[in-house]
Amino acid sequence: MWTHIASASSEDSRLDLYERNGLYMIRANGWELMNGEYHASEDQLGRLAGLLPSAPRPEILVGGLGLGYTLASLLETLNKGIRPTRARITVAERSGAVLRWFGTHINPRLAATLSSRVRLVESDVAAHLGADRRWDVIVLDVDNGPAALSTPGNAALYGEHGLARCRDSLAPSGHLLLWTSFEDLNFVERARTVGLSVTRQSLPLPNRSDQAHVLYVLSRQPLSSVDRERLGLDG
Ligand SMILES: C[S@@+](CC[C@H](N)C(=O)[O-])C[C@H]1O[C@@H](n2cnc3c(N)ncnc32)[C@H](O)[C@@H]1O
Repeated sequence: MWTHIASASSEDSRLDLYERNGLYMIRANGWELMNGEYHASEDQLGRLAGLLPSAPRPEILVGGLGLGYTLASLLETLNKGIRPTRARITVAERSGAVLRWFGTHINPRLAATLSSRVRLVESDVAAHLGADRRWDVIVLDVDNGPAALSTPGNAALYGEHGLARCRDSLAPSGHLLLWTSFEDLNFVERARTVGLSVTRQSLPLPNRSDQAHVLYVLSRQPLSSVDRERLGLDG
């Protein structure tokens, strides 16, 4: 049985934090947004974000923090890298409560040991997008896929205009990664329309062979077949 720990409300959404056997869950407006009992695909999202950049000092934007599994996996991947990278990571999380809960409940150990190369910022991820940016990787996991769930404003991220803005925020060899619990071919079409090259990884759910989480990799330049194979991505 989940125990309710805390709530936080903003003008357009309500978040609730629950705990069970040392694991946490966040609900947004009553809908499950992130559950610590299932995080394999969030881990894989962080791994891909750490393996994709070729720059020696990549700039990586992660939106949002949630329970921090993607961030933890990204840091682990970068630390294990063959080449030492000096990545700088900005995590944009729109909820100040989620940032506080991360340090007080969810993962105080990681929160306390983050290096100065990792910035946790209370802000909308959209505030970090724009033609003056050069992110090597942008990781988007703010909803349950390319449809607004956390807050109505997120819808703007997934339309053609929002995707074009993400594209313009990337370095010439940059990538936008999106976690989704459902395949969305219209989203893929829109990404292609704005000139992004789309590859994907499908992650079947344990004991639910009919369902899968999907990681979309939207790249400014098409990935080579060697990279697609190395990273386990399909065209
Ligand atoms: C699905 S959770 C992220 C899960 C995360 N990948 C993990 O490993 O736990 C979504 C998070 O994004 C935050 N969020 C929602 N919309 C946002 C936005 N526009 N900008 C920044 N953060 C946002 C939510 O508050 C929530 O913490």
